[in-house]
Amino acid sequence: MIGIFDSGIGGLTVLKALSSAFPRHDFLYLADFGYAPYGNRTEDDIVQRSQTIVRWMETRGVSLVVAACHTSSSVLKAQHTTAITTPIVTMLQPTLDGILKHPHRKQWKKGIAILATALSIRKGTLAFALQSRGFDLPIYPVACPPLAGFIESYDHQGAITYLKSHVFESFARNPVDMMVYGCTHYPLIEPWLITCDVPNVIRMNPAEYVATAVAGVLSVSRAPLGDARGNTPPRVWFYHTGTAQGTEQLANHWPNLDTSTPTDLVLD
Ligand code: DGL
Repeated sequence: MIGIFDSGIGGLTVLKALSSAFPRHDFLYLADFGYAPYGNRTEDDIVQRSQTIVRWMETRGVSLVVAACHTSSSVLKAQHTTAITTPIVTMLQPTLDGILKHPHRKQWKKGIAILATALSIRKGTLAFALQSRGFDLPIYPVACPPLAGFIESYDHQGAITYLKSHVFESFARNPVDMMVYGCTHYPLIEPWLITCDVPNVIRMNPAEYVATAVAGVLSVSRAPLGDARGNTPPRVWFYHTGTAQGTEQLANHWPNLDTSTPTDLVLD
């Protein structure tokens, strides 16, 4: 079973990619609503929270954990996970792959924008990793503190208004070839963008590159995923902390999401 966690529904974008890449596996998804938003918390808070969640997932029998949250991914370093034996895949490598191996990379001339939470932007992990791999175009970090909240509450109008005034407007000053969804919530705005005038830049969802990173870790870790289901369909166990908003909407969007398990899990 693969464990996936995020502060809320954003990591479902990663679950979607992984469940199609690994269609015979079970998933355990934790939405940490009670602790959200991660992006407005401190680095120490998020390191500790991520460690606690991974340890809890180990007790539930997961063989591999995906931190489906760029904020956790930007603060979790190898030294934080030495005491944890379960392999952990973060969003950093998939995001680097999505940028550095992009098929149009050679044609880019202007630069890229990274849209992310306040903590991710403050840490600058992705920008630093890009530069240390020789990425030589301008990188424009754009912190979007309220955006995940608009998405959590299905507030289309709030999200679009915010994007227009804080993000798209910045492209006039700093033209870019691509904008990176540096928060797993942000790809969920894609269907909402149909209704508005979007600048002509590539939009990159790093979730599409997670399966490769997971497959890479599995090949070296030989972590057993329990792929012995016979004909039983795979399940997605959905857990959350705090108050779940719109769990029914989630279940409608994600037909194999199993919300029948106890959902009021509280993590200390
Ligand atoms: N989805 C999370 C991320 O990828 C964070 C959203 C939040 O809780 O601030 O960074």
